[in-house]
Amino acid sequence: MRETQQAALAQAMTEAASLVERRLDELLSPAVRGHEQARPARLLAAMRHAALSGGKRIRPFVLIETSGLLGVDAARALNAAVALELVHCYSLVHDDLPAMDDDDVRRGRPTVHRAYDEATAILAGDALLTMAFEVMADVATDADAGVRIALVAALARASGLGGMAGGQALDLAAETATEPLDDAAIRQLQAMKTGALLAFGVMGGAILGRASPEQSSALATYGAALGAAFQIADDILDATSSAAKLGKKAGKDAARNKATLVSRHGLASARALCQQQVEVALAALERGGFGPKAARLASLASFVAERET
Ligand code: IPE
Ligand code: IPE
Ligand code: MG
Ligand code: MG
Ligand code: MG
Repeated sequence: MRETQQAALAQAMTEAASLVERRLDELLSPAVRGHEQARPARLLAAMRHAALSGGKRIRPFVLIETSGLLGVDAARALNAAVALELVHCYSLVHDDLPAMDDDDVRRGRPTVHRAYDEATAILAGDALLTMAFEVMADVATDADAGVRIALVAALARASGLGGMAGGQALDLAAETATEPLDDAAIRQLQAMKTGALLAFGVMGGAILGRASPEQSSALATYGAALGAAFQIADDILDATSSAAKLGKKAGKDAARNKATLVSRHGLASARALCQQQVEVALAALERGGFGPKAARLASLASFVAERET
């Protein structure tokens, strides 16, 4: 039963990823669009390197699944899903920069600043981020301008000062903090740097699907728990896996003195805390009363915790 569910999940993720990749490929084509003046070739190549180089595409999948739960088909959710993935890809390019985590390999390939140069990597990130909002604001995202504005505002909040960018600042500050961060501070840092974008996957789907207040509240709890489990799993994999499997360097959190639940509590406790978040996510789906339609989101919570990449 469980294997069947995980196989169904894997197939749905592959299908969503291929829709997302086709759309990213179109958006990042060399053809000048709309009111643009030109598409500088080297910058475009760096953006393509960042956005079309594999990756699990889990955030757009979450958005597509959540809106699907509420009756929106994948084609109609695609714009919002792709906008979210564009923000994620930008965040990875900047996360890898020498001034941040200083990493050389991402998704099994040289990082963007390694393959190109730092200035190009910074600009590729900037242009991916701004493209995300251009895509989200497009009428194809939803015919209702009010819904589009709600999506733009929610994605901006998830990405900015009180979300991903703020979390990245806390993550970097923690490397050189005089006192190690306590449990609550680590959870907040992770809820911001990683949780916010994953949770937007869920809440973006809720906005597109016109979720009721009760459904939104249950989905918000699910999204926060999913995001927390996702980053704890990332930290566990960093401590236990290999570059060959991960497509990025392993052991880098300990090397850079990162504040993680693994560094704070050890591996066994981190695993238990990750599983605890999965339980919270599953309970939230129950509370939302979605029934068997939520089976894939339930499998996703377990997948996020048990994944090997
Ligand atoms: C990596 O995210 C960065 C974190 C927030 C932990 P993913 O593990 O989703 O990276 P890709 O997109 O699959 O490469
Ligand atoms: C990255 O966290 C979070 C964001 C990119 C916002 P990590 O620094 O742990 O991600 P990896 O391990 O480099 O993928
Ligand atoms: Mg980082
Ligand atoms: Mg990093
Ligand atoms: Mg990591």
